[in-house]
Amino acid sequence: MKNIVVLVSGGGTNLQALIDAQNRGDIKNGKISCVISSNPNAYALTRAKNHNIETEVIRRKDFEKFDDYDDALVKLLKSKSADVVVLAGFMTILGKKVISTFENKIINIHPSLIPSFCGEGFYGLRVHEAALEKGVKVTGATAHFVNEICDGGPIIIQQSVEVKNGDTPEILQKRVMEQAEWKILPKAVSLFCEDKIIVNNNKTEILE
Ligand code: GRF
Repeated sequence: MKNIVVLVSGGGTNLQALIDAQNRGDIKNGKISCVISSNPNAYALTRAKNHNIETEVIRRKDFEKFDDYDDALVKLLKSKSADVVVLAGFMTILGKKVISTFENKIINIHPSLIPSFCGEGFYGLRVHEAALEKGVKVTGATAHFVNEICDGGPIIIQQSVEVKNGDTPEILQKRVMEQAEWKILPKAVSLFCEDKIIVNNNKTEILE
């Protein structure tokens, strides 16, 4: 059984999707062992506690130097015996040490079809604003491994979502979450825990 550690900062609907998938038995060979928040007031922490999942808080601002924060996060993840780290709305940049220590073991969910609308500055509603601004007819979400390039790591799963007449960024964000993010993130985590993801040349092959 692999230990899944989920990093959060906010509302935690993607964390909830992971908890629901676990309760349905859809996360094979893995268990959410700890939820770590960058924000002590994140509602995601309440979701974890409601399901008796251990929680921790680590705040960037409690560390003067970024490298010290990076070291502390690695130490915390190791102390939880993390086999896979899931970024579910984690709003703090990860440092080089965390990324290299957990190479191809950190999974992020991004609310667009990468390589569209991704990279620096594309987070939250901004992603959907940009998609509507461009006038794309299809958007979606991407579950991918994290490397040193923002949103540039190997893609694990993508799910498309239709853009409809009259969409606002908020409406589109909700549809992308419901139809894509909450489905593919638990699926990607389960595939990882089942050792069904092979990474080669910054690409993945999924063993079905
Ligand atoms: C989601 O839109 C996700 O794609 C992005 O951050 C948001 C987190 O929302 N990475 P929630 O906290 O899971 O509700």
